[in-house]
Amino acid sequence: MFGKLFGKKKTGPHMVHIEGVAKPIECDEKTFLLSAALRDGIPIPYSCRVGGCGTCKVQLLEGKVKEFTDKTYLLSQEELRANYILSCQCQPRSDVRFRVDGLDLSAEAQASVHKLVTRQGVIKALRPLTHDILEISIEMDGPMEYTAGEYADMRVPGVLEEFRSYSFAARPDPQRANLAVFHIRKVPGGSFTEWLHQADRLGARVELRGPFGDFRLRSGAAPMVCVAGGSGMAPIKALLEQAVADGAQRDCTYLFGARTQKDLYCQDDMAQIAAQWKGKFRFIPVLSNEPEDSDWTGPRGLVTEFLSREVADLATCHAYMCGPPPMLDAAIEVLKQAGISADHIHFDKFLDKSHLAKAQVANNTPHVGENG
Ligand code: FES
Repeated sequence: MFGKLFGKKKTGPHMVHIEGVAKPIECDEKTFLLSAALRDGIPIPYSCRVGGCGTCKVQLLEGKVKEFTDKTYLLSQEELRANYILSCQCQPRSDVRFRVDGLDLSAEAQASVHKLVTRQGVIKALRPLTHDILEISIEMDGPMEYTAGEYADMRVPGVLEEFRSYSFAARPDPQRANLAVFHIRKVPGGSFTEWLHQADRLGARVELRGPFGDFRLRSGAAPMVCVAGGSGMAPIKALLEQAVADGAQRDCTYLFGARTQKDLYCQDDMAQIAAQWKGKFRFIPVLSNEPEDSDWTGPRGLVTEFLSREVADLATCHAYMCGPPPMLDAAIEVLKQAGISADHIHFDKFLDKSHLAKAQVANNTPHVGENG
């Protein structure tokens, strides 16, 4: 059947067959395979959408695609030989068939694929969380359904046209479906964050589109270990709030890495989560650059140094992490060495333009934040 199907020259929408999915989906030559799959509710794992992380890799079994970025630095030699491609960076040029490693077609995974929407919004509240992180609350002209852990793209029409990506910093609240909250760290040279931090932007108009990402809480009873650094607090906070709302009984240890005491925030939120958490909950801030003679009595160093030390049953944990790539890469290594399988290590890496230098960004939908 495929011989005939793939032999034909077609210019219209092509049929995309995904192993394990009953019905093929349609994808035209201007649409990326990942976008078409998500549009039809097929939860292919992904994160950055710009060829910078490799999460969306799939094995092309038949058909032709046009590739928009260099995948060779993200995929292993073995994967390249086996014809893996980045689904977020490929458009079909014929009918195609591919398979996705570990494609999760459970109801839980499918429920996490939300309708992609664009909303106009107004900045309704601004709250400094630290000397360089602002909490920004946006009232949108309609709801944006999302799952805790996901992110949205934001831009300021007429001022800053390029989108920047930020994780939702609170769990979705059906009572306030038109409200979106983010934590935005000021990054030197980051045009959006500099604009935001430069003056009082209350009442400014912004545009949001989303939701994106597949970083989310997986159900289960295994203890959780969370790791975050900098504004990586936002999606972890949202996940934890969701777990509280779901009545999770599992134990959780959350290690938060910051430079100094003045970089700590959301401690009240963590205390509130601890008070409501049904199992055992520990929030452990770890400071890497706190002056030696300060009054800080908590852990000093890198969060990764404390993973095995603070979490006795580390091998049995499921991990949720968000932060800069070096921190996450080091943490992933520790978790793997402790015996946690890759299936149970979930993370959302910050990416900025420097991380995408080799990716030859081919579209204007980067999951490129100005986080840090
Ligand atoms: Fe495709 Fe990151 S989602 S490379």
